[in-house]
Amino acid sequence: MSEFASVIRGVGGYLPERVLTNEDLSKMVDTTDEWITARTGIRKRHIAAEGEATSDLAVAAARRALDSAGLGPQDIDLIIVATATPDYTFPATATVVQDKLGITRGAAFDLQAVCSGFVFAVATADNFLARGQFERALVIGAETFSRILDWSDRSTCVLFGDGAGAVVLERQTKEQAGDRGVKGIHLRSDGRYRDLLYVDGGPSTTQTVGHLRMIGNQVFKHAVGKISDSVKAAAADAGLAVSDIDWFVPHQANQRILSAVAARLGLDDNKVISTVAEHGNTSAASVPLALAAAIEDGRIKQGDLILIEAIGGGLTWGSALIRM
Ligand code: UT7
Repeated sequence: MSEFASVIRGVGGYLPERVLTNEDLSKMVDTTDEWITARTGIRKRHIAAEGEATSDLAVAAARRALDSAGLGPQDIDLIIVATATPDYTFPATATVVQDKLGITRGAAFDLQAVCSGFVFAVATADNFLARGQFERALVIGAETFSRILDWSDRSTCVLFGDGAGAVVLERQTKEQAGDRGVKGIHLRSDGRYRDLLYVDGGPSTTQTVGHLRMIGNQVFKHAVGKISDSVKAAAADAGLAVSDIDWFVPHQANQRILSAVAARLGLDDNKVISTVAEHGNTSAASVPLALAAAIEDGRIKQGDLILIEAIGGGLTWGSALIRM
């Protein structure tokens, strides 16, 4: 048992300015606002401007998280960027973020678990902090999925958008933290399902970036069962009950998945933070974006027990229980 707790000090989100509505998409591919809204709950998504890279979105979200924590870049000694759409094959986008924030100490690296990336990154940072190795981490989920979509494939291009979200995770002694901090974690992967959601390119296979491919209805089926089991496992890890959760902050892929998981867990729908209508599936950015929105509008407050969860390509999936 560690003598430390990893406490969320600040949260920030950033969505690029350009908005693409369902109506706009209906002029690009054979789809309708009615189909997209009914099947997914998505009404619009944000698209990064030309020349606006994943690191730019990440930096904007990181600055907001630092502001909300009352901290500056000099207070950070660890940066983890969860992304499947890095600026470059290498170096890590986290090092670009580090430089853009003017941070010259500590470590920075990327983490690749696609849509589950933010949950995996929180778990990773928590372990570093618990070991006493770093003091304050910027944990960022940032994506420009618009750059890897096949804009002629209606079954995928309507689902995703660009954005970034960040938290400042701080090492505190158990005494300082009280009951706050990361309480329980559950992470899983199963590579047998990697063909359900993948990108058909990469440096070592095709030497191209490739496009996102997904068998959506199969991912959907895996999502509901695997997430529900993961939430129960994270609660068990924390020694808490699912009914103790104040706010459910899920990966924002599809409103129907959010509702199905909440129903299976017996969670009230009004405890579920849903921002999917506003920005679609932003992969690793979606959980911190939803968290930032619910803190900003006053729903999530210090002391609340929140549950974050996600499932994505790999398949990878996981959950974490955090006392704010
Ligand atoms: O973030 C990573 C995790 N990803 C997810 O969680 C995504 C999980 N999957 C989903 O959200 C849903 O499966 C989708 C939203 C992708 C699709 O919804 P669905 O209810 O599973 O529909 P479906 O794939 O079974 O397709 C139903 C029909 C098909 O037509 P037919 O074969 O029944 O004639 C599709 O061709 O809907 C058609 N379709 C569309 N129609 C209008 C697929 N995309 C579209 C579209 N507009 N954009």
